[in-house]
Amino acid sequence: MTTRAVVRGVGHYLPARVVENSEFEASVETSDEWIRARTGIERRHFAAEGETTSDMGAAAAKAALADAGLTADDVDAVIVATSTADLTFPSAATMVQSKIGMTKGFAFDVQAVCAGFVFALSNANALILSGQAKRVLVIGAETFSRILDFTDRSTCVLFGDGAGAVVVEAQTGAGTADDRGILATDLNSDGSYRDLLYVDGGVSTTGTAGHLRMQGNQVFRHAVEKLAATAHAALDKAGLESGDVDWIVPHQANIRIIEGTAKRMQVPMERVVVTVQDHGNTSAASIPLALSVGKARGQIKEGDLVVTEAIGGGLSWGSVVLRW
Ligand code: UT7
Repeated sequence: MTTRAVVRGVGHYLPARVVENSEFEASVETSDEWIRARTGIERRHFAAEGETTSDMGAAAAKAALADAGLTADDVDAVIVATSTADLTFPSAATMVQSKIGMTKGFAFDVQAVCAGFVFALSNANALILSGQAKRVLVIGAETFSRILDFTDRSTCVLFGDGAGAVVVEAQTGAGTADDRGILATDLNSDGSYRDLLYVDGGVSTTGTAGHLRMQGNQVFRHAVEKLAATAHAALDKAGLESGDVDWIVPHQANIRIIEGTAKRMQVPMERVVVTVQDHGNTSAASIPLALSVGKARGQIKEGDLVVTEAIGGGLSWGSVVLRW
């Protein structure tokens, strides 16, 4: 018998304000047509003034707990994947913990930019497999609208705000790839690519939050190759192959990256959950948002083999293979 970290509940939150591509046409030289054709993005949500990452994370966490039929008291740990925490400290996770009324257990943030949720889910898996926690709330929450340079057309049209969450819990499996739960993880970073995607401010440098800077076409080049490689590596570790995959739930940065990765993995687009058109790139929130939307659409069902994969600043990239 083997302990597995099984997804028991999932939920998400999107801020009320929807920003269509055409809104950017007034402020920068761009067009709805260019954004759709080059990225697949049609609209994104932006947080309201005063609405924070931990507000959205708490809303997603409550939705995931409700879906699981659990309360905050049933959870041992909260992990928030974010690069846009409310404050430099304390962690967004402790703020979420407080907002959902949880006073025991422990809470911390994981910062791996767009790969953050995959890193956080892998950490939750490790906590569960090592017996340090039985139930973990894993949340991806971001307010990237606060670090965008709205005069830079090459980045400001790409990102959005939101949050998604899953509750994972220890369950006993047979130790085979038929078990429900996380079957394998694969994490990677290479800090030599720092300049491809970064924020030009921070506590120990400028003392400001800074703005996002990206060499998009360079990141694009790395993305398809590294995402397919990490997904294959995780599938290999689980003793599975592309043909076993029911759903790829990719990081939602660009439809061309999503399609290129699926093609390399030889998985048809009918088996890929796509939300980029409605959410834009929500960084660490994009995969849990897509898991929640994919379940609500009736795409992801119990027993399905799901592969998540993401890449972001660092560069950091990784994949989690799980049976829903
Ligand atoms: O989530 C973290 C990981 N991030 C990503 O995965 C993002 C990866 N990169 C991308 O998604 C794409 O590279 C972009 C969508 C950012 C850009 O698409 P691209 O096909 O790589 O375009 P490009 O950067 O090579 O730029 C092509 C042209 C340039 O004009 P010139 O130099 O050819 O005259 C840009 O200035 O498109 C121009 N351009 C725009 N035009 C209209 C860049 N942004 C815009 C815009 N509207 N918003």
